[in-house]
Amino acid sequence: MTTILLTGGAGYIGSHTYLALVAAGHDVIILDNFSNARASVPARLERITGKPVTCVEGDVRDAARLAEVFAAFPIDAVVHFAALKAVGESMVRPLDYFDVNIGGLTTLLKAMEAAGCRRIVFSSSATVYGVPDETPTPETAEFRAMNPYGQTKIIGEQMLDWLRQSDPRWAIGTLRYFNPAGAHGSALIGEDPRDIPNNLMPFVAKVATGELQRVNVFGNDYDTPDGTGVRDYIHVEDLARGHVLSLKRLLETGDSHLVNLGTGRGYSVLEVIAAYQRACNRELPYTITDRRPGDVPIYVARADRAAEVLGFRTEKGLDEMCASSWKWVSNDEVHE
Ligand code: NAD
Ligand code: WQD
Repeated sequence: MTTILLTGGAGYIGSHTYLALVAAGHDVIILDNFSNARASVPARLERITGKPVTCVEGDVRDAARLAEVFAAFPIDAVVHFAALKAVGESMVRPLDYFDVNIGGLTTLLKAMEAAGCRRIVFSSSATVYGVPDETPTPETAEFRAMNPYGQTKIIGEQMLDWLRQSDPRWAIGTLRYFNPAGAHGSALIGEDPRDIPNNLMPFVAKVATGELQRVNVFGNDYDTPDGTGVRDYIHVEDLARGHVLSLKRLLETGDSHLVNLGTGRGYSVLEVIAAYQRACNRELPYTITDRRPGDVPIYVARADRAAEVLGFRTEKGLDEMCASSWKWVSNDEVHE
């Protein structure tokens, strides 16, 4: 039995990964400050697993709190989700992003080093590629920061790489997610943005529930098949499974790895709206608006390295992402 610390484990990807890790037989400790998660998430995780959830309320920037956690539990590895993630907000409040995403990572790594725990899975993002020269984009593409958020992910990756070079006992799994979407099959957890969503899928979901009037399609004059932006959407349950495989590799071999987690296939904004219409069985109105500043025309992963190194292959497609999202947002038991 291994014990895994999940920072940000009450958030969107963290809560799904919690379930995948418990299903794989790990003991899991969640550490979250609930700055972007509902207080009811741990109870809902308990309901799904039928097992008590160990959840510590705390901040990854709080060294004393981290020392307590490492003293209280025999932690074998960490999966580090806790971060701020809104691109637009990072342009307005960059210091908060440096503080949480870089300061938080530094504090966490120091606590791990002090406890002799040197295995970590790090949430990185396709955003580190900026506007890539090559699509599908391989892991060898160069770093290009487009905004402070993306810069924090590049710096995080580089810090981890230097750490590993300074001490080979560190084993690091760096996972670059493409566009996570969908929800858990139980419809008890899913993406739950507090404000008007920035991302496409949760925005479309709120049009489907009637909370928002219509989808704004940010530009239809890109060099893509229908002119709208193309993304590699990956089901959050597939993504969660990627973390289980990354941890398995770190725990069994100690081999560090850096992989994209995507499907290798892209869908346009209009294709996403059409798929969601099929899922909710209603028409979703949309308006073509100006391009969103800083947007990239196409992001699609080269997915072969994750298959080779981790044995990771996605199992769920866009229709399952939309169907599970719809089931989640229309579950009145959770959303009063
Ligand atoms: P999320 O906001 O749902 O989850 C992050 C969790 O971290 C939240 O529960 C939040 O309360 C917690 N948190 C934030 N600051 C904290 C702090 N200082 N101390 C402790 N907990 C803190 O976001 P998510 O979509 O689940 O993203 C998880 C990770 O994946 C992040 O690192 C994000 O940058 C990365 N990522 C997300 C996406 C995406 O599109 N969702 C894509 C690529 C990478
Ligand atoms: C997808 C497509 C939009 C909203 C962002 C971050 C990235 C990563 C994931 C964390 C684009 C279009 C969107 C809307 C639209 N996060 N769109 N109307 O931009 O690929 O990535 O989230 O690491 O860093 O930049 O995702 O869902 O915002 O957009 O037309 O209301 O949908 O233009 O083509 P994106 P997204």
